[in-house]
Amino acid sequence: MPIRVRRKELRELGYTFKTDKPDFFNSNSMGNNTIYPPIKSPHFIPISEMPEAELKAFQVESIELLLRRESDGSITAWPGACPHEGAPLKEFKACKNEIQCEWHGLKFSGMNLSMGTKQRAFPGGLLLSFGEEGLSVSPKDVESVISNSDIAGKSKSLSLDH
Ligand code: FES
Repeated sequence: MPIRVRRKELRELGYTFKTDKPDFFNSNSMGNNTIYPPIKSPHFIPISEMPEAELKAFQVESIELLLRRESDGSITAWPGACPHEGAPLKEFKACKNEIQCEWHGLKFSGMNLSMGTKQRAFPGGLLLSFGEEGLSVSPKDVESVISNSDIAGKSKSLSLDH
């Protein structure tokens, strides 16, 4: 999918990008440019909808979540839109705990949530809580860009954990 097509698709959902106002620094760095739109209300994804060991996409308002239920009962979560420039991460292969975005080569570690996890901050200004019934997704009132100050180049692994 060409980047301009994906950008148009995401803009229609409310996404913006740091590089919408380009300057010397944001135009020349491999940073997290995707600004996810806020969600308005809490959502719940039942555990029965999450297949084990298989990546599945879930739509939470304008935000797509990629979830995989692990054999130990935990789940691993990634944002559906690449934090760098918004590529659809579900199109790429997850290898162990990482998805490598094929657009520019960055790797993203998923956020692993064990049973009983409460209110972990996730890209998109989301709070994730994981219990026996499933995953609760709530909005939070903070800046929604992942804070990774150390993104310098291609093929660097990024973590969604803070
Ligand atoms: S869009 Fe650039 S690495 Fe994903």
